[in-house]
Amino acid sequence: MTERILLTPGPLTTSPETKAAMLVDHGSWDEDFRSLTARIRQRLLAAAGGSRSHTVVPLQGSGTYAVEAAIGTFVPRQGKILVLQNGAYGKRMARVVEALGRRMTTVAVPETRPISPVQVASALNADPDITHIGMVHCETGTGLLNPVDEIAAVVRDQGRRMIVDAISTFGALPLDIGHWPADAVVGSANKGLESVPGFVFAFSTPEALTAAAGNSASLSLDLADQWRYMEETGQWRFTPPTHTVAALDRALDQLEAEGGIPVRHRRYRDNMATLLAGVRALGFETLLPDHLQAPVILTVLTPGDPAFSFQDLYALMKQRGFILYPGKTTDAASFRIGCIGAITPAVMERAVAALDASLRDLGMRDRAPATPLEPVA
Ligand SMILES: Cc1ncc(COP(=O)(O)O)c(C=O)c1O
Repeated sequence: MTERILLTPGPLTTSPETKAAMLVDHGSWDEDFRSLTARIRQRLLAAAGGSRSHTVVPLQGSGTYAVEAAIGTFVPRQGKILVLQNGAYGKRMARVVEALGRRMTTVAVPETRPISPVQVASALNADPDITHIGMVHCETGTGLLNPVDEIAAVVRDQGRRMIVDAISTFGALPLDIGHWPADAVVGSANKGLESVPGFVFAFSTPEALTAAAGNSASLSLDLADQWRYMEETGQWRFTPPTHTVAALDRALDQLEAEGGIPVRHRRYRDNMATLLAGVRALGFETLLPDHLQAPVILTVLTPGDPAFSFQDLYALMKQRGFILYPGKTTDAASFRIGCIGAITPAVMERAVAALDASLRDLGMRDRAPATPLEPVA
């Protein structure tokens, strides 16, 4: 098969070494696999800053499973969660809360604006019943980075707890998890850690996990039970994603060799800078102002030229070896290009050249959006 570069926010492009780690079969009860599980847990904690107060609970599934498990495990059945919304994943978090039947209130702002810590403070002041806030760090629907440290300070001042969806940022950006008043910070193997899909994980504290025992109404998504069993036996409660655990261990070797998360963050920033400069030079406009843009995924506004068709562009880019991200998750007409994964600025330059060639194939001259956006403050 020809080399394929995924310009998507996960699953993403993985290295040959990470893929090769999956060529070995592991018995789920075997001592080697038990050691592998212990090792990836210890390495994930080290990547999170090595805080001694924390532990990490891996869980089978995708990002939504982690969010659902965290809310179901930590928000008490009589509790109430304030969900912060400025995009697709904040909205999904609210759907999770509804499905779980927990009481909820929301702070919602347009998708081109970050959540304001002042708004969070006044929502918490107005409602002493709120026990938790739930927020998304990088809204992968648009690529917007929410001010998690500032919001964490407000939540701490108010004596409440948080659940942070760091699915698209853990591994990609340095995070100050140890200082957040968080019952859970959830991340995924197949984003900034550059491994394959199959499992997710929640950073928490033994105190929070112990206090949450018996709270979850789900057995398979009970992080407290998963943690207790893993601590006692060294094993996963139910069939583990053996190959993908091995892949993450290999991917963590590469994270270490690269110099850790701060160095990876720099590469992603360079990838994003190359992509941004490239698409702008081609005449495109992008959704977000630069200061709100996370180095994860770029939302490009759909051009008004009738010769443009995303499906055709997707097919032409695929012929050139690049997979774009289909699926519209923004209110504005747009498409997205990811810049995370085992890719470099040189790859982003080739992607921009492929974009230029594909647009010429489409016969497109004007790349300006149909409806220019209002300027964002
Ligand atoms: C920030 C964030 N939260 C949650 C999810 C949900 O993950 P999934 O659709 O894989 O369940 C994603 C997926 O990209 C995400 O980026």
